[in-house]
Amino acid sequence: MTERLNIRRVAGALGAEISGVDLSQALSDETVAAIRAALTQHQVIFFRDQDLTPAQQVAFGRRFGPLNIHPYVSGMAGQPEVMEIIKEPSDKINFGGGWHSDMSFLETPAIGSILYAVELPEWGGDTLFASQAAAFDALSPGLQATLEGLNAVHSASREYSAQGHSAQKRGSMKVAEADGYVGEYVHPMVLVHPETGRKALYVNPAFTLRIDGWKTRESKALLDYLFEHSRYEAFTCRFSWRPGSVAFWDNRSVWHFALNDYPGQRRHMRRVTVDPWPKAQAVAAE
Ligand code: SIN
Repeated sequence: MTERLNIRRVAGALGAEISGVDLSQALSDETVAAIRAALTQHQVIFFRDQDLTPAQQVAFGRRFGPLNIHPYVSGMAGQPEVMEIIKEPSDKINFGGGWHSDMSFLETPAIGSILYAVELPEWGGDTLFASQAAAFDALSPGLQATLEGLNAVHSASREYSAQGHSAQKRGSMKVAEADGYVGEYVHPMVLVHPETGRKALYVNPAFTLRIDGWKTRESKALLDYLFEHSRYEAFTCRFSWRPGSVAFWDNRSVWHFALNDYPGQRRHMRRVTVDPWPKAQAVAAE
């Protein structure tokens, strides 16, 4: 069956809420294509009132690409692609509590993340999103051209080190610290979206170490400027979760930030993270 999607934009730069689809069901190719088109157009899409088992969330995610198994955060027993993001009332630090996109520390970064809300605090716990396409558009042509010629080095080494935010101990999450050399990967500082052709800044406050070919000290001023610029409020939207809400964001053009403003309360989410199709399969699908 092909569902009729209702799509309502939520902010000027990015974000749309979609109704009229039950993500727990086997969706037709047309419906998947419509969701994919909404994602690439709006960069982050939201669904309400879903009821997803981990297996159904995996099945939905797999319609968009192979699912990533996180190298540092343990997945659910028997469902390793599902990452449980939990902050217990006794935890001080949340997961994802800073601007970032997911998995740019890998050679092949994830293209999307699908987050499902299981249990929420009575208040707080929203997630902010920022369009890196809008951030790129707002730069001067001169800086745009400069950045288009540059690459940046990304790594998990800082964020997943013993001192890094992501590796901090939380009551119900098993997060490993990066041990030894974890790899550095070079990605363009401006990504051209393969489906829309739209350009987006691709630097990551959590995982970008330096501009490729520049010293860390030389890179700092430009990266700090871009990190500041990219979170300007006109580029953002904010999502207030309810149990059963789903957010699906495009990591190629969106940053997100899980707010840590609900001390003493529990928040429980489940995430699957979508990798790009292997090249041969992507070509065959065209
Ligand atoms: C994440 O960074 O994936 C977590 C986002 C959230 O929990 O809102």
